[in-house]
Amino acid sequence: MRKKIVAGNWKMNTLVREGVALASDINTELKNINLPDDVQVIIAPPFTHIAFAEQVIDGNKLYVAGQNCATENEGAYTGEVSAAMLKALGCSSVITGHSERRAYYHETSEILAKKTEQILKNDMMPIFCCGEKLEERKAEKHFDVVKNQISEALFHLGENDFSKIVIAYEPVWAIGTGVTASKEQAQEMHSYIRKITDEKYGKEISENLTILYGGSVKPANAKEIFSMPDVDGGLIGGAALKADSFIDIIKAIL
Ligand code: PGA
Repeated sequence: MRKKIVAGNWKMNTLVREGVALASDINTELKNINLPDDVQVIIAPPFTHIAFAEQVIDGNKLYVAGQNCATENEGAYTGEVSAAMLKALGCSSVITGHSERRAYYHETSEILAKKTEQILKNDMMPIFCCGEKLEERKAEKHFDVVKNQISEALFHLGENDFSKIVIAYEPVWAIGTGVTASKEQAQEMHSYIRKITDEKYGKEISENLTILYGGSVKPANAKEIFSMPDVDGGLIGGAALKADSFIDIIKAIL
């Protein structure tokens, strides 16, 4: 069964006290919502908040993700946080390949392949982000860009591992800009991602693949985007930093 997911990517926002209050508010509001079994709600706070946030949420209704992890399992890598460390804190998934990490921290497909393997090795769900820049869309290269990002970092995985992946399509020009892809643009790319997955792994895996849309999703546009047949939820940045707007986006998928 294809899961639907609404995930909040807090990025480098909130100090621990505010973050824990936000997690607690989301948790409280979620109690009033009857979530179907196929809908998962995830928050991805900064690393420093995770242990505290875990203490104020209901782990079977609200899941916690890391925003990043190391390419290595342990050792002399000053400043890094391993997938195993996130797993030990109770995380069930980790975001990888976010365009901010690709752009500012020079994360290549090779690095992302290693991170994805670490996440899988530690029994967590990779939320793998992909998406083209504005100039690439203008040059009509967006399908090739997304195909390369996915195939280079993920297509070496066996069927069993790939079936644990969630893909988030996040056109770079829509992230934090207030400009959302139209529902048709999102659907077109999501169905393309499903098609290349089908060609590589077959129908069963491609039909079960959860593909999230990310980029300026807010309560006002969430329902429209989520209504598309190949959009299985969203990765939410700015609008995930307020409990009310995040909850309204969750309601839009029900
Ligand atoms: P945004 O961010 O919703 O603020 O555009 C989305 C993301 O970067 O995951």
